[in-house]
Amino acid sequence: MADAEGLLEARDVSEMPAQKTGPTKKSIKGADNIAWGMKNRLSRLIRPDGHCQFLPIDHGYFQGPTRCLERPQDTVRDLLPYADGLFVTRGVLRASIDPDMETPVILRVSGATSVVGKDLANEVLTTSVEEMVRLNVAAVGLSIFVGSDYERETLQNLAMLVDDCEEYGIPVMAVTAVGKELEKRTARFLALSCRIAAELGARIVKTYYCEDFEKITNGCPVPVVIAGGPKCETELEVFEFVYDGLQKGAIGVNLGRNIWQNPHPEAMMMALNSVIHGGATPKQAFEIFETKKSGGDS
Ligand code: 5RP
Repeated sequence: MADAEGLLEARDVSEMPAQKTGPTKKSIKGADNIAWGMKNRLSRLIRPDGHCQFLPIDHGYFQGPTRCLERPQDTVRDLLPYADGLFVTRGVLRASIDPDMETPVILRVSGATSVVGKDLANEVLTTSVEEMVRLNVAAVGLSIFVGSDYERETLQNLAMLVDDCEEYGIPVMAVTAVGKELEKRTARFLALSCRIAAELGARIVKTYYCEDFEKITNGCPVPVVIAGGPKCETELEVFEFVYDGLQKGAIGVNLGRNIWQNPHPEAMMMALNSVIHGGATPKQAFEIFETKKSGGDS
């Protein structure tokens, strides 16, 4: 048979150089014993240094046409190269994001409430697992509202989503939402919420920065990512809380308004990457921001 002609015999492995062990494996908290697909998806989101910068543009799912997200494609066009993951709903993803982009997608899959409705916490799951696969997502995200009137329902959403997603190797990121009750952002409350999210099967937890952030990360068996919240007064403030959160065990950030509502969003992402991936101090990051915003090299 023509196909079999000229086939080379396999080499004797005992005569080959010792097998290379490759670079030190990246360690992802709580992920030592997970299946290949799940690990591969997490590895697409978390860089070899164990850190990540996610870019969320999902705000419209409950607050409509948010400032600077009016045309999401324009907002993210120049930012995607600096992002390790894009947090987005399926509607904006399909309508506004180029499928050629290389940035992995974290799909927002909870919602169905709004800022003008009765209660933001009354969310349901909005997206089927078939749709997640169709959209080739690297992970999915949903909000849980611990301590709210809908605590049980949103925690049940998480548990059911984990059941569906584990079947397909899709990591679930839980967002410890506080709705309009921003005063809930204390280490005690957020540590409780994050731990519950991990216990129910979240592979990553996103939570607000607060004082004593190590109380949150110490009590959470999976990676913790810092959420943003309303825009800070100064860029330095952002670099400071991100730096402190990372020192205290966060693996990265998921900052929206503090990036794309800043007049220099690319410079913000570059400066943040210097903290997250480069170990820069807040002061060094601020210097990078100042240089980059005027188009310079640093
Ligand atoms: C909304 C979210 C957002 O992704 C999150 O709030 C991050 O954006 P920002 O930094 O603007 O707060 O999960 O529920």
